[in-house]
Amino acid sequence: MKILLLSTSIALSMLSTSALAACEAVIEGNDMMMFNLKQMSVSTAECREFKVTLKHAGKYPAASMGHNWVLTKTADYMAVAGAAPAAGLMNEYVPPDDARVLAASKIVGGGEETSVTVDLSKLQAGEDYTYFCSFPAHFAMMKGKLNVH
Ligand code: CO
Repeated sequence: MKILLLSTSIALSMLSTSALAACEAVIEGNDMMMFNLKQMSVSTAECREFKVTLKHAGKYPAASMGHNWVLTKTADYMAVAGAAPAAGLMNEYVPPDDARVLAASKIVGGGEETSVTVDLSKLQAGEDYTYFCSFPAHFAMMKGKLNVH
């Protein structure tokens, strides 16, 4: 009986762990100007928020190889990326008060990490979303699709 109870509690803890993991994700950037994920996925049925942790696995400082995680509709991605350099590092290379920006983390340098929480009530299942690094000239290589289902 004890063994049965134990295995039940393990099964329950595994369930809660996987449910939590589905609403959170970790993505890495590096000194080669690349993310380690080309796509990410979240379910609006399972999660109200999506917490993204960005780790900079490289060594270069934010001033020369900064990375952030910015989310827009794919249709807005090029325009927001184009407006980012003018916003400057003081604005984390994110255009201020821009409704097209659905979420944006801070800029981090080598060895640092940051996180940003996406409010999924702003997103729609089936819409086409792109995440990218808005540090100048990084958006072309550092991008991926967020699959919202
Ligand atoms: Co970058």
